[in-house]
Amino acid sequence: MQIMIKTEHLSKEYGGKKVVDDLDLQVNLQETFGFLGPNGAGKTTTIRMLTTLTKPTFGRVWINGFDGVKEPTKVKREFGIVQQHLSLNRELSVRENLDLHARLHHIDKAERKERIDELLDYVDLAAYSDHLIDRISGGMKRRVMIARALIHRPKLLILDEPTVGLDAQTRRRIWDLIRRMNSDGTTVFLTTHYIEEAEALCDRVGIIHQGRIISLDSPLELRKRLGMAVVERRRSGDDTEYRYFPDRGSATEYVQSMPSSAESIVMRESNLEDVFVELTGRRVTE
Ligand SMILES: Nc1ncnc2c1ncn2[C@@H]1O[C@H](COP(=O)(O)OP(=O)(O)O)[C@@H](O)[C@H]1O
Ligand SMILES: [Mg+2]
Repeated sequence: MQIMIKTEHLSKEYGGKKVVDDLDLQVNLQETFGFLGPNGAGKTTTIRMLTTLTKPTFGRVWINGFDGVKEPTKVKREFGIVQQHLSLNRELSVRENLDLHARLHHIDKAERKERIDELLDYVDLAAYSDHLIDRISGGMKRRVMIARALIHRPKLLILDEPTVGLDAQTRRRIWDLIRRMNSDGTTVFLTTHYIEEAEALCDRVGIIHQGRIISLDSPLELRKRLGMAVVERRRSGDDTEYRYFPDRGSATEYVQSMPSSAESIVMRESNLEDVFVELTGRRVTE
């Protein structure tokens, strides 16, 4: 299997504090891989090391076989990045923003026009090509950033919290776009603190907590490890007890075996949030 991202003992310290701690990671070609973790977990710092913006304090990183520290120029050709914060030139139009970026990648004029037209179609912004960035919606800005990241046809697309601050409908549109890019052959690495985003998009998810990966697998496997069914038992005036079972059948048996009482009992399928809470003892959004 071809490996697109590999890290070994990747670590970053700031002021003696390990914010990324001994990360061993392997992302395969054409996979959609997600880092799920709360604010401050070390997601952006990891991306900064993957994209050569920050040097690791310790450990190594390879992108498509190129060494992140020794071969940064080669590494930069391999990926496109959509940063967490809007980083477009607000006084320029959509097309001008893309054109500027294409020039930075030394794409010649004829090719630039062709690629920009193609990408504007791809992200469904052809009708807005001459609009100033300041005049378009947040979702459209995000799509411009995605188009910009794809301008040099990278094999790997890295997205740092791609839908933060977007409404539910716009978020789904971005999800569709990410899925389409992935099925068109692009490997996707994304970070998110939205559980449903990791669940909706990722083949595999690494749960990152205080700089460390505490669990890594497909959303389904992560749930299986915990139990596919949950019984929530709300004790009167008290906190809720969660019990996990391999399947609905065993959860049902448990519920039936309980003495009837005034307690409220809910049986449901487990989800990635349960996995996160059980692993870290807290909710992801905290
Ligand atoms: N340049 C920096 N200098 C000092 N501390 C930093 C720097 N960048 C990030 N940190 C700290 O590292 C931790 C992880 O930050 P970050 O990688 O941005 O997390 P996330 O993207 O998961 O929210 C945070 O505690 C943050 O304050
Ligand atoms: Mg971040």
